[in-house]
Amino acid sequence: GRNFFVGGNFKLNPTTRAAKQALVKTLNEATVDPSVEVVIAPPALYVIPLRASLRADFKVAAQNCYEKSSGAFTGEISPEQLVDAEISHVILGHSERRTLFHETSEQVAAKTRAAISAGLSVILCVGETDKEREAGQTKQVVESQLQPVIQVLNEADWSKVVIAYEPVWAIGTGKVATSAQAQEAHADIRAFLSSQVSPSVAENTRIIYGGSVNAGNCKELAAQKDVDGFLVGGASLKPEFIDIINAKK
Ligand code: 13P
Repeated sequence: GRNFFVGGNFKLNPTTRAAKQALVKTLNEATVDPSVEVVIAPPALYVIPLRASLRADFKVAAQNCYEKSSGAFTGEISPEQLVDAEISHVILGHSERRTLFHETSEQVAAKTRAAISAGLSVILCVGETDKEREAGQTKQVVESQLQPVIQVLNEADWSKVVIAYEPVWAIGTGKVATSAQAQEAHADIRAFLSSQVSPSVAENTRIIYGGSVNAGNCKELAAQKDVDGFLVGGASLKPEFIDIINAKK
């Protein structure tokens, strides 16, 4: 069985430690379905204090890392440093990193390889733009983002990967994918994993949806057979995040 997985991607929010602590307090006091795997991804500066103050049953992710363990790479954070800080997860290949910071799928693959080798689990983000969807290229774009990662992983590494399908046009826009659009994309990703990796990896890998998920739309999305959870941006900063964690209830 694929345990339901809900990630909160805080992005570059909030801007004060006090506001960050208020978010932790809300999370710590929440009643959640204990079968759901919850992972919180704060800005890098807050990763360590958030790990120290967050309830033990919630995991913590970085929003990015570099592919080298140490050296002359000003501004970067390594997978080894995250593991040493008792951080279990890292988000890689988020569309904001691909678009604003020009990360290629090959770099995302190198980072994924390094993160898993160091002992991290990876939330690997893929997704098409509105232009690509309108051109009928969704499947091809997502497969081209996954292929370099497939090339650098062994079959056993896939137990450390959660794929986040995040259509770019749905991120921060309020324009959520329909449950049919999400289901179709997730089923295509699962079929691709089956043919390119193995049927058992396809069966066991969580594929979560991200892009304008909120308390109002999460239940219908969560009911789709290939939607194994969510990666939540804006709504992860609000009390409704708890309802999203509990979407399967
Ligand atoms: P929103 O939930 O704000 O649309 O962001 C989704 C996202 O990018 C999560 O990584």
